[in-house]
Amino acid sequence: MTDPTYTTIKVSSAKRVGKIQLNRPAALNALNAETMEEVVTTAVAFDADPDIGAILLSGSQKAFAAGADIKEMSEQSFTDMYAADWFRRWEELTRLRTPVVAAVSGYALGGGCELAMMADIIIAGTSAKFGQPEINLGVIPGMGGSQRLTRSVGKAKAMDMVLTGRHVDAEEAERIGLVSRVVPDGELDAEARTVAELIASKSKPAAQMAKEVVAAAFEMPLASGLQFERRIFHSLFATEDQAEGMDAFANKRKPSWKHR
Ligand code: CAA
Repeated sequence: MTDPTYTTIKVSSAKRVGKIQLNRPAALNALNAETMEEVVTTAVAFDADPDIGAILLSGSQKAFAAGADIKEMSEQSFTDMYAADWFRRWEELTRLRTPVVAAVSGYALGGGCELAMMADIIIAGTSAKFGQPEINLGVIPGMGGSQRLTRSVGKAKAMDMVLTGRHVDAEEAERIGLVSRVVPDGELDAEARTVAELIASKSKPAAQMAKEVVAAAFEMPLASGLQFERRIFHSLFATEDQAEGMDAFANKRKPSWKHR
């Protein structure tokens, strides 16, 4: 899986978890075009791998990612940005069916915060600092911050973050619903891996469909979302794992999933 030509990420896999670690320490993991290519290509490959049940995305102790690469962007004109449809490829991460866990310590700013929000679960170390500081560069969020942040934390906090550019610490991030859990920095890697391995140990179709229906709540009106959920629920009764899971419960034993 690891492509030796990758220069901005480290890739590994173990126990059904594929791991992508951002690795541009000199630039605090700023996201340039190369990083986008490497992260998305690897994530899409993990998504297609039957032996992978969860993807773990992490950075370094100091920075998950300090944003899109400002130096790379600074020379671009409107027509350059428009012609390349700058950042579009990141959207492919939101179409992955495999659950994605982001482990965030240090800075998750601008595109770093937006990348974390493309994951399904964010686990933060106590040092994590989230923010959308693009306003300080004379621009606005461009990788989904204005939309995903608003849907995650509501208008009041999203406006506060996007208009002032201030950093939100891990405690506040958990309080406003931006992250799922906060743990001491020293426990972050182990906690995120435990969560990813737990998800990867479930019935794969059930985990993937669970992700799909929760994600649909971001897109659908309530009545359509509820109907979608019910139909997916019904469809799981066509799987061997539904029979196995319910039989295991009734017989007080651990389920042995057929589809992982
Ligand atoms: N792009 C390019 N390089 C970056 C970067 C970024 N987003 N963030 C940090 N770096 C580089 C710095 O330029 C510096 O490089 P040099 O040593 O070559 O000068 C190196 O990383 C270390 O950074 P600092 O010396 O600034 O480290 P610090 O500890 O003093 O400060 C920081 C850390 C507060 C995160 C600061 O680096 C910072 O403010 N970074 C920019 C944050 C930002 O504005 N992010 C949003 C980018 S725009 C965006 O993301 C658009 C979008 O919506 C997708």
